[in-house]
Amino acid sequence: MGDQAKLSAGETVTNFPVLKGSVGPDVIDIRKLYGQTGMFTFDPGFTSTGSCESALTYIDGEEGILLHRGYPIGQLAEQSSFMEVSYLLLNGELPGKGELDEFSSTITRHTMVHEQLLQFYRGFRRDAHPMAVMCGVVGALSAFYHDSTDIADPEHRKISSHRLIAKMPTLAAAAYKYSIGQPFLYPDNSLSYTGNFLRMTFGVPAEEYELHPAVEQAMDRIFILHADHEQNASTSTVRLAGSSGANPFACVAAGIACLWGPAHGGANEAALNMLREIGTPDKIPHFIERAKDKNDPFRLMGFGHRVYKNYDPRATVMQKTVREVFDALKVTNPVFETALRLEELALNDEYFIEKKLFPNVDFYSGIILSAIGFPTTMFTVLFALARTVGWVAQWNEMISDPAQKIGRPRQLYTGPVKRDYTPIGKR
Ligand code: CMC
Repeated sequence: MGDQAKLSAGETVTNFPVLKGSVGPDVIDIRKLYGQTGMFTFDPGFTSTGSCESALTYIDGEEGILLHRGYPIGQLAEQSSFMEVSYLLLNGELPGKGELDEFSSTITRHTMVHEQLLQFYRGFRRDAHPMAVMCGVVGALSAFYHDSTDIADPEHRKISSHRLIAKMPTLAAAAYKYSIGQPFLYPDNSLSYTGNFLRMTFGVPAEEYELHPAVEQAMDRIFILHADHEQNASTSTVRLAGSSGANPFACVAAGIACLWGPAHGGANEAALNMLREIGTPDKIPHFIERAKDKNDPFRLMGFGHRVYKNYDPRATVMQKTVREVFDALKVTNPVFETALRLEELALNDEYFIEKKLFPNVDFYSGIILSAIGFPTTMFTVLFALARTVGWVAQWNEMISDPAQKIGRPRQLYTGPVKRDYTPIGKR
Protein backbone atom coordinates (compact mmCIF):
# COMPACT_ATOMS: atom_id res chain seq x y z
CA MET A 1 0.00 0.00 0.00
CA GLY A 2 1.35 3.47 -0.91
CA ASP A 3 1.32 6.53 1.35
CA GLN A 4 -1.90 7.29 3.14
CA ALA A 5 -3.31 10.45 4.70
CA LYS A 6 -5.32 9.93 7.85
CA LEU A 7 -8.37 12.07 8.51
CA SER A 8 -9.98 11.95 11.88
CA ALA A 9 -13.37 13.60 12.15
CA GLY A 10 -15.36 12.96 15.34
CA GLU A 11 -15.15 9.24 16.14
CA THR A 12 -14.19 8.17 12.65
CA VAL A 13 -10.68 7.82 11.29
CA THR A 14 -10.43 7.35 7.53
CA ASN A 15 -7.40 6.72 5.36
CA PHE A 16 -6.99 8.28 1.93
CA PRO A 17 -4.38 7.37 -0.67
CA VAL A 18 -1.65 9.92 -1.36
CA LEU A 19 -0.86 10.13 -5.09
CA LYS A 20 2.50 11.23 -6.43
CA GLY A 21 3.10 13.14 -9.64
CA SER A 22 6.40 13.23 -11.50
CA VAL A 23 7.30 16.49 -9.70
CA GLY A 24 5.39 18.91 -7.47
CA PRO A 25 3.19 18.46 -4.42
CA ASP A 26 1.60 15.08 -3.71
CA VAL A 27 -2.19 15.01 -3.64
CA ILE A 28 -4.59 13.38 -1.21
CA ASP A 29 -7.10 11.39 -3.23
CA ILE A 30 -10.38 12.29 -1.54
CA ARG A 31 -12.70 10.87 -4.19
CA LYS A 32 -14.21 8.51 -1.61
CA LEU A 33 -14.44 11.16 1.14
CA TYR A 34 -18.17 11.78 0.85
CA GLY A 35 -19.02 8.09 0.56
CA GLN A 36 -16.93 7.24 3.62
CA THR A 37 -17.57 10.23 5.90
CA GLY A 38 -20.66 12.02 4.55
CA MET A 39 -18.57 15.23 4.39
CA PHE A 40 -17.40 17.42 1.54
CA THR A 41 -14.20 19.45 1.36
CA PHE A 42 -14.56 23.23 1.24
CA ASP A 43 -12.14 25.15 -0.97
CA PRO A 44 -13.58 28.32 -2.57
CA GLY A 45 -11.25 29.48 -5.34
CA PHE A 46 -9.73 25.96 -5.41
CA THR A 47 -6.54 27.11 -3.71
CA SER A 48 -5.76 23.61 -2.41
CA THR A 49 -7.55 21.49 -4.97
CA GLY A 50 -6.11 19.50 -7.85
CA SER A 51 -8.95 19.03 -10.32
CA CYS A 52 -7.34 16.58 -12.74
CA GLU A 53 -4.25 14.67 -13.76
CA SER A 54 -2.28 16.47 -16.45
CA ALA A 55 1.01 15.94 -18.28
CA LEU A 56 1.03 19.25 -20.14
CA THR A 57 2.34 22.07 -18.01
CA TYR A 58 4.13 22.26 -14.69
CA ILE A 59 4.48 25.38 -12.54
CA ASP A 60 6.59 25.77 -9.43
CA GLY A 61 5.27 29.06 -8.14
CA GLU A 62 7.79 29.36 -5.30
CA GLU A 63 10.76 29.01 -7.65
CA GLY A 64 9.19 30.85 -10.61
CA ILE A 65 9.43 27.82 -12.93
CA LEU A 66 7.14 27.08 -15.87
CA LEU A 67 7.62 23.95 -17.98
CA HIS A 68 5.66 22.78 -21.02
CA ARG A 69 6.00 19.01 -21.40
CA GLY A 70 9.17 19.44 -19.33
CA TYR A 71 10.75 22.23 -21.38
CA PRO A 72 11.42 25.56 -19.57
CA ILE A 73 9.41 28.48 -20.93
CA GLY A 74 12.56 30.62 -21.30
CA GLN A 75 14.13 28.07 -23.67
CA LEU A 76 10.95 27.71 -25.69
CA ALA A 77 10.48 31.47 -25.95
CA GLU A 78 14.08 32.02 -27.05
CA GLN A 79 14.58 29.03 -29.35
CA SER A 80 11.26 27.63 -30.48
CA SER A 81 8.27 28.91 -32.47
CA PHE A 82 4.58 29.11 -31.63
CA MET A 83 3.80 26.37 -34.15
CA GLU A 84 6.38 24.09 -32.60
CA VAL A 85 5.13 24.79 -29.06
CA SER A 86 1.58 24.10 -30.25
CA TYR A 87 2.70 20.74 -31.65
CA LEU A 88 4.53 20.00 -28.40
CA LEU A 89 1.51 20.80 -26.25
CA LEU A 90 -0.85 18.77 -28.41
CA ASN A 91 1.42 15.76 -29.00
CA GLY A 92 3.73 15.58 -25.99
CA GLU A 93 7.06 15.66 -27.85
CA LEU A 94 8.96 18.16 -29.97
CA PRO A 95 8.34 17.50 -33.68
CA GLY A 96 10.96 16.42 -36.22
CA LYS A 97 11.38 18.75 -39.21
CA GLY A 98 8.90 16.77 -41.38
CA GLU A 99 6.34 16.62 -38.57
CA LEU A 100 6.60 20.36 -37.95
CA ASP A 101 6.25 21.18 -41.65
CA GLU A 102 3.22 18.95 -41.95
CA PHE A 103 1.61 20.40 -38.81
CA SER A 104 2.25 24.00 -39.89
CA SER A 105 0.86 23.28 -43.34
CA THR A 106 -2.29 21.65 -41.86
CA ILE A 107 -2.87 24.67 -39.63
CA THR A 108 -2.25 27.02 -42.55
CA ARG A 109 -4.83 25.20 -44.65
CA HIS A 110 -7.49 25.65 -41.97
CA THR A 111 -7.12 29.42 -41.55
CA MET A 112 -10.07 30.44 -43.71
CA VAL A 113 -13.46 30.69 -42.06
CA HIS A 114 -16.82 29.96 -43.65
CA GLU A 115 -17.90 33.08 -45.53
CA GLN A 116 -21.24 33.06 -43.73
CA LEU A 117 -19.48 33.35 -40.38
CA LEU A 118 -18.10 36.74 -41.39
CA GLN A 119 -21.69 37.99 -41.53
CA PHE A 120 -21.86 37.67 -37.75
CA TYR A 121 -19.53 40.62 -37.31
CA ARG A 122 -22.01 42.94 -38.95
CA GLY A 123 -24.49 42.21 -36.17
CA PHE A 124 -22.17 43.87 -33.64
CA ARG A 125 -21.84 47.59 -33.02
CA ARG A 126 -18.54 48.91 -34.32
CA ASP A 127 -17.59 49.98 -30.80
CA ALA A 128 -18.24 46.52 -29.31
CA HIS A 129 -15.36 45.24 -27.21
CA PRO A 130 -13.48 42.74 -29.41
CA MET A 131 -13.64 40.16 -26.59
CA ALA A 132 -17.45 40.40 -26.76
CA VAL A 133 -17.17 39.80 -30.50
CA MET A 134 -14.81 36.86 -29.96
CA CYS A 135 -17.17 35.19 -27.45
CA GLY A 136 -19.85 35.41 -30.11
CA VAL A 137 -17.98 34.37 -33.24
CA VAL A 138 -15.99 31.53 -31.65
CA GLY A 139 -19.21 30.18 -30.14
CA ALA A 140 -20.77 30.50 -33.59
CA LEU A 141 -18.10 28.20 -35.06
CA SER A 142 -19.99 25.39 -33.33
CA ALA A 143 -22.79 25.90 -35.85
CA PHE A 144 -20.46 25.46 -38.86
CA TYR A 145 -18.29 22.38 -38.43
CA HIS A 146 -20.61 19.46 -37.86
CA ASP A 147 -18.22 17.02 -39.52
CA SER A 148 -15.80 17.09 -36.60
CA THR A 149 -17.90 17.06 -33.47
CA ASP A 150 -17.90 13.41 -32.44
CA ILE A 151 -15.74 14.11 -29.41
CA ALA A 152 -15.29 10.38 -28.71
CA ASP A 153 -13.38 10.07 -32.00
CA PRO A 154 -9.71 11.17 -31.64
CA GLU A 155 -9.56 12.10 -35.33
CA HIS A 156 -12.56 14.42 -34.94
CA ARG A 157 -10.99 15.97 -31.88
CA LYS A 158 -7.79 16.55 -33.81
CA ILE A 159 -9.60 18.27 -36.68
CA SER A 160 -11.59 20.52 -34.31
CA SER A 161 -8.36 21.38 -32.46
CA HIS A 162 -6.56 22.28 -35.69
CA ARG A 163 -9.52 24.35 -36.84
CA LEU A 164 -9.64 26.29 -33.58
CA ILE A 165 -5.90 27.05 -33.57
CA ALA A 166 -5.96 27.97 -37.27
CA LYS A 167 -9.08 30.13 -37.31
CA MET A 168 -8.41 32.20 -34.19
CA PRO A 169 -5.99 34.60 -35.96
CA THR A 170 -8.50 35.12 -38.77
CA LEU A 171 -11.33 35.78 -36.32
CA ALA A 172 -9.20 38.01 -34.08
CA ALA A 173 -7.94 40.09 -37.00
CA ALA A 174 -11.51 40.44 -38.30
CA ALA A 175 -12.65 41.67 -34.86
CA TYR A 176 -10.03 44.41 -35.11
CA LYS A 177 -10.79 45.28 -38.74
CA TYR A 178 -14.48 45.53 -37.97
CA SER A 179 -13.83 47.91 -35.06
CA ILE A 180 -11.90 50.33 -37.30
CA GLY A 181 -14.16 50.00 -40.33
CA GLN A 182 -11.61 48.40 -42.68
CA PRO A 183 -12.32 45.42 -44.92
CA PHE A 184 -11.44 41.93 -43.70
CA LEU A 185 -8.34 40.42 -45.27
CA TYR A 186 -8.23 36.76 -46.28
CA PRO A 187 -5.35 34.65 -44.98
CA ASP A 188 -2.20 34.38 -47.07
CA ASN A 189 -0.84 30.82 -47.02
CA SER A 190 2.66 31.91 -47.98
CA LEU A 191 3.16 33.52 -44.56
CA SER A 192 3.91 32.06 -41.15
CA TYR A 193 1.10 31.64 -38.62
CA THR A 194 2.14 34.84 -36.88
CA GLY A 195 3.07 36.76 -40.04
CA ASN A 196 -0.32 35.92 -41.50
CA PHE A 197 -2.05 37.23 -38.38
CA LEU A 198 -0.09 40.50 -38.47
CA ARG A 199 -0.92 40.99 -42.14
CA MET A 200 -4.62 40.28 -41.63
CA THR A 201 -4.60 42.77 -38.74
CA PHE A 202 -2.50 45.64 -40.08
CA GLY A 203 -2.56 45.11 -43.85
CA VAL A 204 -5.04 46.66 -46.28
CA PRO A 205 -6.18 45.34 -49.66
CA ALA A 206 -4.88 48.48 -51.39
CA GLU A 207 -1.19 47.71 -50.90
CA GLU A 208 1.40 45.06 -50.07
CA TYR A 209 1.93 44.54 -46.37
CA GLU A 210 5.55 44.63 -45.30
CA LEU A 211 6.23 42.32 -42.38
CA HIS A 212 8.82 43.54 -39.91
CA PRO A 213 10.87 40.44 -38.94
CA ALA A 214 11.53 41.70 -35.38
CA VAL A 215 7.83 42.38 -34.85
CA GLU A 216 6.90 38.96 -36.25
CA GLN A 217 9.40 37.31 -33.92
CA ALA A 218 8.23 39.30 -30.88
CA MET A 219 4.59 38.50 -31.63
CA ASP A 220 5.40 34.80 -32.02
CA ARG A 221 7.23 34.89 -28.69
CA ILE A 222 4.26 36.58 -27.02
CA PHE A 223 2.06 33.78 -28.35
CA ILE A 224 4.48 31.18 -26.90
CA LEU A 225 4.40 32.93 -23.51
CA HIS A 226 0.61 32.70 -23.42
CA ALA A 227 0.17 29.23 -24.90
CA ASP A 228 -0.74 27.33 -21.74
CA HIS A 229 -0.68 27.78 -18.01
CA GLU A 230 -1.91 24.68 -16.23
CA GLN A 231 -5.37 24.70 -14.59
CA ASN A 232 -6.00 28.48 -14.58
CA ALA A 233 -9.53 29.91 -14.51
CA SER A 234 -10.21 29.90 -18.26
CA THR A 235 -8.64 26.46 -18.81
CA SER A 236 -10.69 25.07 -15.93
CA THR A 237 -13.73 26.70 -17.54
CA VAL A 238 -12.99 24.95 -20.85
CA ARG A 239 -12.51 21.65 -19.04
CA LEU A 240 -15.70 22.10 -17.00
CA ALA A 241 -17.74 23.05 -20.07
CA GLY A 242 -16.20 20.15 -22.00
CA SER A 243 -16.82 17.67 -19.17
CA SER A 244 -20.50 17.54 -20.10
CA GLY A 245 -19.56 16.48 -23.65
CA ALA A 246 -20.26 19.94 -25.07
CA ASN A 247 -19.15 21.08 -28.52
CA PRO A 248 -15.43 22.09 -28.45
CA PHE A 249 -15.98 25.43 -30.20
CA ALA A 250 -18.60 26.34 -27.58
CA CYS A 251 -16.22 25.22 -24.80
CA VAL A 252 -13.49 27.53 -26.10
CA ALA A 253 -16.02 30.38 -26.29
CA ALA A 254 -16.66 29.75 -22.57
CA GLY A 255 -12.90 29.95 -21.97
CA ILE A 256 -12.77 33.28 -23.80
CA ALA A 257 -15.56 34.64 -21.59
CA CYS A 258 -13.63 33.68 -18.47
CA LEU A 259 -10.33 35.01 -19.78
CA TRP A 260 -11.87 38.43 -20.37
CA GLY A 261 -12.02 39.32 -16.65
CA PRO A 262 -9.48 41.84 -15.29
CA ALA A 263 -8.22 39.35 -12.67
CA HIS A 264 -7.22 37.00 -15.52
CA GLY A 265 -6.43 37.81 -19.18
CA GLY A 266 -8.02 41.24 -18.98
CA ALA A 267 -5.15 42.33 -16.72
CA ASN A 268 -2.89 43.21 -19.68
CA GLU A 269 -5.38 45.85 -20.83
CA ALA A 270 -5.87 47.03 -17.25
CA ALA A 271 -2.10 47.15 -16.62
CA LEU A 272 -1.36 49.45 -19.55
CA ASN A 273 -4.34 51.66 -18.71
CA MET A 274 -2.99 51.88 -15.16
CA LEU A 275 0.54 52.76 -16.32
CA ARG A 276 -0.87 55.49 -18.55
CA GLU A 277 -2.96 56.80 -15.67
CA ILE A 278 0.12 56.89 -13.42
CA GLY A 279 1.80 58.86 -16.19
CA THR A 280 5.12 59.96 -14.78
CA PRO A 281 7.43 58.19 -12.28
CA ASP A 282 6.85 60.88 -9.61
CA LYS A 283 3.21 59.73 -9.30
CA ILE A 284 4.17 56.11 -8.57
CA PRO A 285 4.37 56.38 -4.74
CA HIS A 286 0.79 57.64 -4.64
CA PHE A 287 -0.43 54.60 -6.60
CA ILE A 288 1.63 52.21 -4.49
CA GLU A 289 0.00 53.67 -1.38
CA ARG A 290 -3.42 53.19 -2.96
CA ALA A 291 -2.61 49.55 -3.79
CA LYS A 292 -1.68 48.97 -0.16
CA ASP A 293 -4.78 50.67 1.24
CA LYS A 294 -7.32 48.06 2.36
CA ASN A 295 -10.14 50.58 1.89
CA ASP A 296 -9.22 51.29 -1.71
CA PRO A 297 -10.19 48.64 -4.28
CA PHE A 298 -7.24 49.69 -6.48
CA ARG A 299 -4.63 46.97 -7.15
CA LEU A 300 -1.41 47.13 -9.09
CA MET A 301 -2.53 45.47 -12.30
CA GLY A 302 0.04 43.06 -13.73
CA PHE A 303 1.25 42.32 -10.20
CA GLY A 304 0.62 39.22 -8.10
CA HIS A 305 -0.39 35.75 -9.09
CA ARG A 306 -2.29 32.89 -7.53
CA VAL A 307 0.54 30.46 -8.18
CA TYR A 308 3.75 32.49 -8.62
CA LYS A 309 5.18 33.71 -5.34
CA ASN A 310 8.32 34.72 -7.21
CA TYR A 311 9.05 36.52 -10.48
CA ASP A 312 6.75 35.16 -13.22
CA PRO A 313 9.25 33.64 -15.70
CA ARG A 314 7.09 34.91 -18.56
CA ALA A 315 7.50 38.49 -17.29
CA THR A 316 11.30 38.12 -17.51
CA VAL A 317 11.10 37.24 -21.22
CA MET A 318 8.47 39.89 -21.81
CA GLN A 319 10.60 42.65 -20.29
CA LYS A 320 13.53 41.67 -22.54
CA THR A 321 11.24 41.56 -25.58
CA VAL A 322 10.06 45.14 -24.91
CA ARG A 323 13.65 46.32 -25.35
CA GLU A 324 14.11 44.28 -28.52
CA VAL A 325 10.92 45.64 -30.10
CA PHE A 326 11.76 49.22 -29.13
CA ASP A 327 15.25 48.84 -30.62
CA ALA A 328 13.93 47.26 -33.81
CA LEU A 329 11.21 49.87 -34.28
CA LYS A 330 13.49 52.66 -33.08
CA VAL A 331 10.87 53.89 -30.64
CA THR A 332 10.80 54.62 -26.93
CA ASN A 333 7.86 55.01 -24.64
CA PRO A 334 7.87 56.80 -21.31
CA VAL A 335 5.34 54.22 -20.09
CA PHE A 336 8.13 51.62 -20.15
CA GLU A 337 10.28 53.81 -17.90
CA THR A 338 7.30 54.21 -15.56
CA ALA A 339 6.81 50.42 -15.54
CA LEU A 340 10.46 49.73 -14.74
CA ARG A 341 10.43 52.28 -11.93
CA LEU A 342 7.13 50.96 -10.57
CA GLU A 343 8.54 47.43 -10.53
CA GLU A 344 11.66 48.61 -8.73
CA LEU A 345 9.73 50.54 -6.08
CA ALA A 346 7.15 47.80 -5.53
CA LEU A 347 9.78 45.06 -5.23
CA ASN A 348 11.48 47.06 -2.48
CA ASP A 349 8.27 47.80 -0.61
CA GLU A 350 7.54 45.78 2.54
CA TYR A 351 3.89 45.16 1.54
CA PHE A 352 4.80 43.58 -1.80
CA ILE A 353 7.76 41.67 -0.33
CA GLU A 354 5.67 40.22 2.48
CA LYS A 355 2.80 39.20 0.20
CA LYS A 356 5.21 37.93 -2.46
CA LEU A 357 3.73 40.10 -5.20
CA PHE A 358 5.87 40.19 -8.35
CA PRO A 359 5.21 41.36 -11.92
CA ASN A 360 3.27 38.78 -13.90
CA VAL A 361 3.10 38.16 -17.66
CA ASP A 362 0.63 40.99 -18.13
CA PHE A 363 2.77 43.73 -16.65
CA TYR A 364 4.98 44.25 -19.71
CA SER A 365 2.98 42.65 -22.52
CA GLY A 366 0.74 45.69 -23.05
CA ILE A 367 3.76 47.94 -23.62
CA ILE A 368 5.00 45.76 -26.51
CA LEU A 369 1.55 45.23 -27.98
CA SER A 370 0.92 48.92 -27.97
CA ALA A 371 4.31 49.58 -29.66
CA ILE A 372 3.34 47.07 -32.35
CA GLY A 373 0.16 49.03 -32.93
CA PHE A 374 -2.62 47.17 -31.10
CA PRO A 375 -5.23 49.15 -29.19
CA THR A 376 -5.62 48.07 -25.55
CA THR A 377 -8.97 46.40 -26.26
CA MET A 378 -7.18 43.87 -28.50
CA PHE A 379 -4.69 42.75 -25.84
CA THR A 380 -6.87 40.10 -24.27
CA VAL A 381 -7.91 38.90 -27.73
CA LEU A 382 -4.24 38.12 -28.44
CA PHE A 383 -4.04 36.24 -25.15
CA ALA A 384 -7.12 34.23 -26.19
CA LEU A 385 -5.65 33.51 -29.60
CA ALA A 386 -2.50 32.03 -28.07
CA ARG A 387 -4.23 30.29 -25.17
CA THR A 388 -6.50 28.45 -27.59
CA VAL A 389 -3.74 25.90 -28.10
CA GLY A 390 -3.57 25.27 -24.35
CA TRP A 391 -7.35 25.06 -24.11
CA VAL A 392 -7.65 22.48 -26.86
CA ALA A 393 -4.66 20.47 -25.62
CA GLN A 394 -6.18 20.37 -22.12
CA TRP A 395 -9.61 19.55 -23.51
CA ASN A 396 -8.16 16.66 -25.53
CA GLU A 397 -6.29 15.40 -22.50
CA MET A 398 -9.46 15.51 -20.45
CA ILE A 399 -11.61 13.66 -22.98
CA SER A 400 -8.98 10.91 -23.33
CA ASP A 401 -8.66 10.48 -19.55
CA PRO A 402 -10.53 7.32 -18.45
CA ALA A 403 -11.13 8.93 -15.01
CA GLN A 404 -12.94 11.86 -16.64
CA LYS A 405 -16.41 12.65 -15.27
CA ILE A 406 -18.74 15.59 -15.59
CA GLY A 407 -17.40 18.36 -13.30
CA ARG A 408 -19.90 18.87 -10.54
CA PRO A 409 -18.69 20.57 -7.33
CA ARG A 410 -20.79 20.55 -4.17
CA GLN A 411 -21.32 23.33 -1.62
CA LEU A 412 -21.70 24.35 1.98
CA TYR A 413 -25.36 25.28 2.08
CA THR A 414 -26.15 28.27 4.34
CA GLY A 415 -29.68 29.15 3.14
CA PRO A 416 -32.98 28.56 4.91
CA VAL A 417 -33.89 25.02 5.91
CA LYS A 418 -37.16 23.54 4.64
CA ARG A 419 -40.21 25.77 5.21
CA ASP A 420 -43.74 25.83 3.82
CA TYR A 421 -44.90 28.11 1.05
CA THR A 422 -47.27 30.92 2.13
CA PRO A 423 -49.73 32.21 -0.51
CA ILE A 424 -49.08 35.86 -1.44
CA GLY A 425 -52.22 37.16 0.29
CA LYS A 426 -51.07 35.75 3.62
CA ARG A 427 -47.50 37.18 3.60
N1 CMC B 1 -1.94 44.85 -5.78
C1 CMC B 1 -2.08 45.04 -4.44
N2 CMC B 1 -2.34 44.04 -3.57
C2 CMC B 1 -2.47 42.81 -4.07
C3 CMC B 1 -2.34 42.55 -5.45
C4 CMC B 1 -2.06 43.63 -6.31
N3 CMC B 1 -1.94 43.43 -7.62
N4 CMC B 1 -2.52 41.22 -5.68
C5 CMC B 1 -2.76 40.68 -4.47
N5 CMC B 1 -2.72 41.62 -3.49
C6 CMC B 1 -2.89 41.39 -2.07
C7 CMC B 1 -4.35 41.19 -1.74
O1 CMC B 1 -4.99 42.39 -1.37
C8 CMC B 1 -4.26 40.22 -0.58
O2 CMC B 1 -3.96 40.95 0.58
P1 CMC B 1 -4.53 40.44 2.03
O3 CMC B 1 -3.92 39.10 2.25
O4 CMC B 1 -4.04 41.49 2.97
O5 CMC B 1 -6.01 40.39 1.88
C9 CMC B 1 -3.04 39.36 -0.90
O6 CMC B 1 -2.22 40.18 -1.74
C10 CMC B 1 -3.37 38.07 -1.62
O7 CMC B 1 -4.21 38.38 -2.75
P2 CMC B 1 -5.42 37.49 -3.23
O8 CMC B 1 -6.34 38.33 -4.05
O9 CMC B 1 -6.01 36.75 -2.06
O10 CMC B 1 -4.64 36.44 -4.14
P3 CMC B 1 -5.25 35.59 -5.31
O11 CMC B 1 -4.33 34.45 -5.49
O12 CMC B 1 -6.69 35.29 -5.05
O13 CMC B 1 -5.19 36.61 -6.56
C11 CMC B 1 -4.57 37.73 -8.53
C12 CMC B 1 -4.29 36.55 -7.58
C13 CMC B 1 -3.72 37.58 -9.80
C14 CMC B 1 -6.06 37.72 -8.94
C15 CMC B 1 -4.22 39.06 -7.79
O14 CMC B 1 -2.84 39.08 -7.46
C16 CMC B 1 -4.59 40.29 -8.62
O15 CMC B 1 -5.75 40.73 -8.58
N6 CMC B 1 -3.61 40.86 -9.41
C17 CMC B 1 -3.90 41.95 -10.30
C18 CMC B 1 -4.54 41.38 -11.59
C19 CMC B 1 -3.54 40.69 -12.48
O16 CMC B 1 -2.46 41.18 -12.72
N7 CMC B 1 -3.95 39.51 -13.00
C20 CMC B 1 -3.15 38.77 -13.97
C21 CMC B 1 -2.75 37.41 -13.49
S1 CMC B 1 -1.47 36.68 -14.54
C22 CMC B 1 -2.24 36.42 -16.05
C23 CMC B 1 -3.24 35.33 -15.99
O17 CMC B 1 -2.87 34.18 -15.65
O18 CMC B 1 -4.38 35.58 -16.34
